[in-house]
Amino acid sequence: MITLTLAELAAAVDGRLVGADPTATVTGAVEFDSRKVRPGGLFVAFDGEKVDGHDYAARAVADGAVAVLGTREVPGVPMVLVADALAALGRLARAVVDRLPELTVIGITGSSGKTTTKDLIAQLTARLGPTVAPPGSFNNELGHPYTALQAGPDTRFLVLEKGARGVGHVRYLCDVVPPRISVVLNVGVAHIGEFGSRETIAMAKGELVEALPVDGLAVLNADDPLVAAMATRTRGRVVRYGEAVDADVRATDVTLDDRGRPSYTLVTPEGAVPVRLGLTGHHQVSNSLAAAAVARELGMPLADLAEALGGLGLVSTRRMDVFDRPDGVTVIDDSYNANPASMAVALRALAGMRRNGRTIAVLGYMAELGPFEVDGHREVGRLAAELGVDRLLVVDAAAAPIQAGATAVGNWGGESVLLTDQAAAVEVLRSELRPGDVVLVKGSRYRTWEVADALRVGTGGEDAQ
Ligand SMILES: Nc1ncnc2c1ncn2[C@@H]1O[C@H](COP(=O)(O)OP(=O)(O)OP(=O)(O)O)[C@@H](O)[C@H]1O
Ligand SMILES: [Mg+2]
Repeated sequence: MITLTLAELAAAVDGRLVGADPTATVTGAVEFDSRKVRPGGLFVAFDGEKVDGHDYAARAVADGAVAVLGTREVPGVPMVLVADALAALGRLARAVVDRLPELTVIGITGSSGKTTTKDLIAQLTARLGPTVAPPGSFNNELGHPYTALQAGPDTRFLVLEKGARGVGHVRYLCDVVPPRISVVLNVGVAHIGEFGSRETIAMAKGELVEALPVDGLAVLNADDPLVAAMATRTRGRVVRYGEAVDADVRATDVTLDDRGRPSYTLVTPEGAVPVRLGLTGHHQVSNSLAAAAVARELGMPLADLAEALGGLGLVSTRRMDVFDRPDGVTVIDDSYNANPASMAVALRALAGMRRNGRTIAVLGYMAELGPFEVDGHREVGRLAAELGVDRLLVVDAAAAPIQAGATAVGNWGGESVLLTDQAAAVEVLRSELRPGDVVLVKGSRYRTWEVADALRVGTGGEDAQ
């Protein structure tokens, strides 16, 4: 956060000061959880469904908040009164980033891999200068301005995931924090229930490159035709990444080791270097190329880039997190979330990691697929069978079409079982797991988290969230 007087702050959010000294200065963080308020900060009171932040306004001031941004007066509390606190937070974030000319904002969108790639890009930019990026998937109308408000005069890079559930959402987020570099990863069927069609999803994701200024840069996935086509929707320059022969930042000679970790030759206009990733799954080639394209634009020399890519690690948990158990079982915890495209990359990684034991997929329900729900699940089951997964544990009756899709593959030699809940899946695993087995755990949010956590017990990583 930068230093602002309450008068400046009120002007930025179109608010009215009540009982507040216009010359008082906010020097600390902006918080909406009163427990996090520190002296010199600003407390934002949201009138939520369960909790009304105004009830905590006095406490926030007692804890040192200079004022409270809210929608109604609280006796004795210096207030910045606004009509809509969320919109005001967005306007405040905009005012702050507009006052930070040294800041480069990097926005990322796509159907799958936003958080992963946000973490990769932030790891690279952190080598170039102070970087602010949100933890996990904090990518909505609240997380976005909240994260941006953590940027200060020393911050050089702000890396933001731009999630969308409808047309206009990304545009709104870009009004709040305009990007200078926009990265579009892919257009799949995630959230298609809300969008209706892939074309509408492409329309919505492309808003990220429409928001670029003329000196901005669009980083587009050359391997995804709907993303590559966004080149015509931007005023900025375009850099294309991927395995396609005409990509500007390209991977050739991709191979995966026995842990599913890709190696490739990174080919750029400046030359070619070998890269060996420590991350699992072929999809990380694509994500790391997107990150490489950003770092290259920001001036990272090619040799440094190759080394930095090799050092990339997992930051946000439950995403292709591979670990070994003392009993000789290897687990791929990709349980954070799921859609048909991310199921496909995870199943391919599982199949590629087969050792002397079996490959086992514990798959849960995929939410928000709307009219594609049954086909989306069937498709995933079919792929699991075609990839030769040995054992398929389907969790929850809602995910039953996964089993149907697998058993419809005539020559599949594996076995499937439909389980009522996660506890039942854990029981089956307990009795069946043998040394050498590789287990993938994946489903939409929380639907397979218990399974992943149960498999983690005894590995020393129980604290992972
Ligand atoms: N480039 C990619 N293409 C396809 N699938 C991917 C890609 N990158 C990651 N995934 C898969 O998507 C899963 C979710 O990744 P991540 O959390 O980064 O996506 P997200 O776009 O941020 O999702 P959300 O919409 O839930 O915020 C990963 O665990 C992995 O299985
Ligand atoms: Mg995310």
